[in-house]
Amino acid sequence: MRRASLFLSPGDVADGILQGHLLVAIDVLRASTTICQALVAGARDILPVAEIEEAKRLAESLGRENTLLCGEREGRIIPGFDLGNSPLEYTPEKVKDKTLVMCTTNGTALLSRLREAEVYVAGFVNVGAVIRRLGSLKGDVAFLCAGLLGQFSLEDAVCGGMLVAGLGGRRKVRLSDGAVAGKLLYKRFAKNLLGMLQASHHGAYLTGLGFGQDLEFASRTDACPVLPVFREGRITIKESC
Ligand code: MLT
Repeated sequence: MRRASLFLSPGDVADGILQGHLLVAIDVLRASTTICQALVAGARDILPVAEIEEAKRLAESLGRENTLLCGEREGRIIPGFDLGNSPLEYTPEKVKDKTLVMCTTNGTALLSRLREAEVYVAGFVNVGAVIRRLGSLKGDVAFLCAGLLGQFSLEDAVCGGMLVAGLGGRRKVRLSDGAVAGKLLYKRFAKNLLGMLQASHHGAYLTGLGFGQDLEFASRTDACPVLPVFREGRITIKESC
């Protein structure tokens, strides 16, 4: 029987535990949401990195003509960068055909640590595309919440629970305790995802910074129907999903 595990914070992932799993990384506020929007807007690819200096060096080595430096610290654009981490900034005018070097506190930091063959990126905005892809594959699945500074974050757990619920379908799936907890949280908040985002710690922080519209965007189920796949250091759209 297929198994689904939901790791509610990065610290829950013990060495070697992900081996042999299909992997899905979740950072609803806001890296996953922004990555999906950037790809919908025509970005060629996205290179996630953990550290600011590493991002600058990589962008320089690629040549700045077709490369944008993107990311945040404490939710705000990094000084000297081209774009912050608001999905609303990622318009076709700004990102079409560009390579984005992206550095965010939790989301790209998580991705850059993952060395597995393929990792899908998920938020509410592309949940259907992720579920369809997982439904077409065999094997155990691990959903990884980026969380907030290594801690649990409500919005990633709820999104993980939504994915776990969608994965079930007519097939039986054996759930880890984390996956059961995520599914219960999703049931609790399914009818008001925006309200849940607004009540969450990070959502309230972003609203205070003036990014309330980002929460609305992030709450729109399947608003960005793409499947971002992270492979060999870059995120692109997975074709034919
Ligand atoms: C992150 O990756 O840490 C987040 O996306 C932070 C943010 O809201 O910009």
